[in-house]
Amino acid sequence: MSAAAPEPIAAAFRPDAVGRTIRVRGWVQKVRSSGGILFLLVRDRTGTVQVTGRRDRLGDAGFDRAEHVQVEGVVEAEGTVADDPRSPGGRELRASAIRVVDAGLPFPIFQEQTEEFRLDKRHLAIRSAEHVATFRVKAELLRALREFLHAEDVLETTPPILTGNPAEGGAEAFTIDYFGRPGYLSQSAQLYLEALLAPHERVYALTPSFRAEKSRTPRHLTEYQHLEVELAWCDLDGLTDFIERMVGHVCRTVAERSATDLALLGRPPEELAAIRPPFPRTSYAEAIERLKAKGLDVRWGSDLATAEERALTIEERLPLFVSRFPRELKAFYMLRTPDDPRTVEAADLLAPEGYGEIVGASCRETDVAALVDRIRAMGANVEEYEWYLDLRRHGNVPHAGFGLGIERILRWMLRREHIRETTPFPRTPSRHTP
Ligand code: 4AD
Ligand code: MG
Repeated sequence: MSAAAPEPIAAAFRPDAVGRTIRVRGWVQKVRSSGGILFLLVRDRTGTVQVTGRRDRLGDAGFDRAEHVQVEGVVEAEGTVADDPRSPGGRELRASAIRVVDAGLPFPIFQEQTEEFRLDKRHLAIRSAEHVATFRVKAELLRALREFLHAEDVLETTPPILTGNPAEGGAEAFTIDYFGRPGYLSQSAQLYLEALLAPHERVYALTPSFRAEKSRTPRHLTEYQHLEVELAWCDLDGLTDFIERMVGHVCRTVAERSATDLALLGRPPEELAAIRPPFPRTSYAEAIERLKAKGLDVRWGSDLATAEERALTIEERLPLFVSRFPRELKAFYMLRTPDDPRTVEAADLLAPEGYGEIVGASCRETDVAALVDRIRAMGANVEEYEWYLDLRRHGNVPHAGFGLGIERILRWMLRREHIRETTPFPRTPSRHTP
């Protein structure tokens, strides 16, 4: 093999590539031979190309070695690029030499296996075309979110994951033994973002959040990526405006940058490009009336579970804000609605097409006595929240924030049946390996 540096497989598909001699390397997806010709479909991160090799060119030993490479084995091939209408993408590499980097053992994953088996072999299954496309789109989503937040002058910060008090109530927190004292895995960075707010005014964090929920649903993970934003001087209208601009921006950007991956996953990019503000808004009270009219058994005070969220959005094309929930349904830190003490200044953003909640947002309670009441009502120890109450004693300003579940929004954007398909190593109640 020549000393030329290996090139990305995409180089074989450039307009001027025909006739060039190039070297590529990658993972074998298919091997087949017939009549002294070998056909290898080889994948790298930039694409897939068919490599052909003739016994009379590769020599018997070289041909036999390459013929025994397994699916997901690795080869390096040098050859001439040629047009070939029968090959995927219309090009092939006619090899003068094929070096086997790793012949590999028989690959254990193929079409007919059960979902459980594939999850057991997740470390290998994530090489599928669907997973590759999914995690590329996820990277573009995270990039677009960061670009938006940077342009909005929101500062990225790094709150802790190990905490001494649960942010969203103890019931669903993973507890750990922190050198003999109780500790928790973070459910939300919000309380820390509120502390960072006084000096920085506009902050965000992208951290893993953990929920010890036994819910085996297609939208719950026990570990997920959580984007949380906290804004000083912001009310509920300002917050929902910010969220809809952000969601519109990331949908449009991902539609542009990931069109091929989206199409492969069954989401026409035009559909995401059409997600533009303003999004429809409804109050919780109106939502309950709508659901009653649809024949669902709900009343004021009912939580909006999967079935209710689905009924509200199944026919929608845009995300839907639902606001001003009964305070009993929501977290202790939410601000009471000034003219209605039964509700809080909170809004959930529900994805269209029945995918459910993707953002939870609220204005934060600023009154210490009201917070103390709510901490007691959730059965927690007020002392553990003293540091948080301090924030209301020293430079307290109106503020609001939200949390976006990265896998939740991606599940909708990519139309995945189950949220586990949006993360490489899903953590669910029944599984934390591989
Ligand atoms: O609505 P949640 O529980 O709100 C909070 O944690 C707030 N402290 C956020 C904030 O205001 N800073 O969670 C926020 C979002 C949900 O809307 C959902 O998208 C996602 O986090 N989420 C989950 N995603 C996957 N699996 C789970 N078990 C999730 N629980 C919440
Ligand atoms: Mg919520």
